[in-house]
Amino acid sequence: MTLADQEARRQAMTDLSSILLVEAAAGTGKTSLMAGRVAMMLAAGHHPGEIAAITFSELAASQLARRIRETVDKLLAGDVPAFLEAVLPQGLSEQQREALVVAFPRLDELTATTIHGFCQSIIRSHGVQAGLDPGARVVDATVADNLFMAELSAWFSHRLAADAAEGDPIVVLAEEIPLQVVNLIRELANLRRKHPDAQPILPSAGARPDIDFVQAVDDFDRWQVSAEPDKWLSDIAHELRGLAQRYHDCLASKESFRVLWRLCDPGIGRLFERKGLQLKTYDEAARGFGAHRN
Ligand SMILES: Nc1ncnc2c1ncn2[C@@H]1O[C@H](COP(=O)(O)OP(=O)(O)O)[C@@H](O)[C@H]1O
Ligand SMILES: [Mg+2]
Repeated sequence: MTLADQEARRQAMTDLSSILLVEAAAGTGKTSLMAGRVAMMLAAGHHPGEIAAITFSELAASQLARRIRETVDKLLAGDVPAFLEAVLPQGLSEQQREALVVAFPRLDELTATTIHGFCQSIIRSHGVQAGLDPGARVVDATVADNLFMAELSAWFSHRLAADAAEGDPIVVLAEEIPLQVVNLIRELANLRRKHPDAQPILPSAGARPDIDFVQAVDDFDRWQVSAEPDKWLSDIAHELRGLAQRYHDCLASKESFRVLWRLCDPGIGRLFERKGLQLKTYDEAARGFGAHRN
């Protein structure tokens, strides 16, 4: 029986220098066609290690690898599989046979894998240049997320273990904000995962924002005294003086994380949200003062 597209099939298996697109329904012979093309490449003298047969799924990759091996086996046994009959009507030439004999013991150097598997093997063989752990493996996104979270939990428990250092920032946070600490750490870990090179902004050496702040509050205070009397202004100035007192000289010595964390809380006041130094919005703060201009 001659298939209607026999000539196209023959070309796909023998025109080894062209880039071809084969599109066909399930069960019409695509896998056989690829196996045939690879067998013809080997018969033309290409080394197995130079050939990459890439598929979409792992199942297809293993089927293809098996089909290639079976095809070569059959050809060497003097048999021609049905899908190769039109290509090799007289069987193998002597030269083709010799090439297959040479290729046969090295068939496992042939790459038959998925897109992911192929990329991974390239990355792995250049692991040092890629900065990769030699034991690294590719997993899909859900598995990766679960592994990451499991790893994070283990790390977290380890940090909070009985022998943890008292001033350890994680320990301090667990004591100071026990209800939020897990979410905060998870948020930071995810941020770091997305941006592995992210670094905290380092304070400039010798900077004393506490002195700058107290100075600025002082300037503001002097200005508001000289300005037209206004309850809103004097309320804010009062509030700021409270903060200036709280932060006066607070960075004079190198402080522990616990002290720095406590400094993040502006204490009782109406300008700031508690814990975190977020300024309230103008409306919220104004409501807190219960006073508006005019
Ligand atoms: N040219 C052909 N002549 C006869 N049978 C073929 C031919 N090509 C493929 N087959 C057979 O058809 C079946 C399906 O082939 P397969 O290559 O797995 O198709 P696909 O990959 O497109 O799903 C297999 O049993 C295969 O041996
Ligand atoms: Mg198939």
